[in-house]
Amino acid sequence: MAEVETVLVTGCAGFIGMHLTRGLLAEGFRVVGVDNLNDYYDVQLKIARLRELRFNVEGDEDSSMNTDSGLTPFVFVKQDIAEVEVMSRIIKNYNVSQVFHLAAQAGVRYSIDNPQAYIDSNVVGTTSLLQACRMHRVEHVYLASSSSVYGAITETPFREDMTCDTPLSIYAATKASTELIAHAYSKLFQLKVTALRFFTVYGPWDRPDMALHKFVERIRKGKQIDVYNNGDMQRDFTYVEDLVRMVLRLSVASTADNDKLYQVFNVGSGNPVSLSKFIGEIQKALDREALIRYLPMQPGDLKQTYADMTKLTATIGSLPKTKLDFGIAEAVRWHSEYYGQV
Ligand SMILES: NC(=O)c1ccc[n+]([C@@H]2O[C@H](COP(=O)([O-])OP(=O)(O)OC[C@H]3O[C@@H](n4cnc5c(N)ncnc54)[C@H](O)[C@@H]3O)[C@@H](O)[C@H]2O)c1
Repeated sequence: MAEVETVLVTGCAGFIGMHLTRGLLAEGFRVVGVDNLNDYYDVQLKIARLRELRFNVEGDEDSSMNTDSGLTPFVFVKQDIAEVEVMSRIIKNYNVSQVFHLAAQAGVRYSIDNPQAYIDSNVVGTTSLLQACRMHRVEHVYLASSSSVYGAITETPFREDMTCDTPLSIYAATKASTELIAHAYSKLFQLKVTALRFFTVYGPWDRPDMALHKFVERIRKGKQIDVYNNGDMQRDFTYVEDLVRMVLRLSVASTADNDKLYQVFNVGSGNPVSLSKFIGEIQKALDREALIRYLPMQPGDLKQTYADMTKLTATIGSLPKTKLDFGIAEAVRWHSEYYGQV
């Protein structure tokens, strides 16, 4: 019988981490998930996501290395990635072949007042993880980066070969830093690393600090929503299940291509949408009007994100393209189910 390959997903209780873990399990991988379940936002939401992955958190949080029978498809370890010895033991004991590194302190606005959290999770945490991967000769590390690394670049669409040295937020600066550190690790220690620049991801189980989640919650309650730069912003919105499909297909393509040690890919839709259209679709899905308060541009924000998807398309073939109205309707449906109708 063929041996089941074990992969590590960091940040598995997070929005994207949960969807990616589900996708990897469906592909037949065994997944070891690590998350420190920090309280940046509602911990119960993270626990509910773990339950979706059929993991019973109560009393079983440290389903650790010693008690594992080798048969469980999903194993959760509550752990901070910055602890290099523990991460190293996890990788070794589970014989992890590939790492999908999503754990991070996310959010642009929070980073303005809380820079240290970003240095700790993103810079220190990622370096510790890379060190553990290097020690155990992990075959491939996929690193979640962000469209925010394009910073002050105004030329669009954003291409992977543009020089990204003008971040506009601490979050973006830490994400650009992790790409640089990963590049050095890759060249020094022949560690294969692929940095994935995600573009505004949306869908069911999203983060409560993200625009879609906040808008849906407030519109449903009849409360006013804040829209920045007078709504004059565009985002390359990416449906979370499309992202999972792109990452899974990329990992198959990368296994076949042994030449490249370090690569960067945009993971987006290649189709920027105005914030006004986005809000219009939310109103349609909710069948309610939004009370909008227009505000000036927030510090740290980019006016437009627009992914050039040529490189990823050339590598994985045509891209999955969930329509915005469908994706928003799915997110709204989940929101109603999870939080209940008001
Ligand atoms: N959601 C987006 O639109 C978006 C866009 C660009 C990039 N990203 C990146 O994708 C990744 C996932 O984002 P998300 O939206 O799912 O965020 P999320 O906050 O929902 O998930 C991140 C998870 O990582 C965990 N975590 C944070 N620091 C940790 C640490 N030191 N040790 C262990 N676990 C830790 C958190 O508890 C959380 O569950 C992040 O790296 C983020 O920067 C997300």
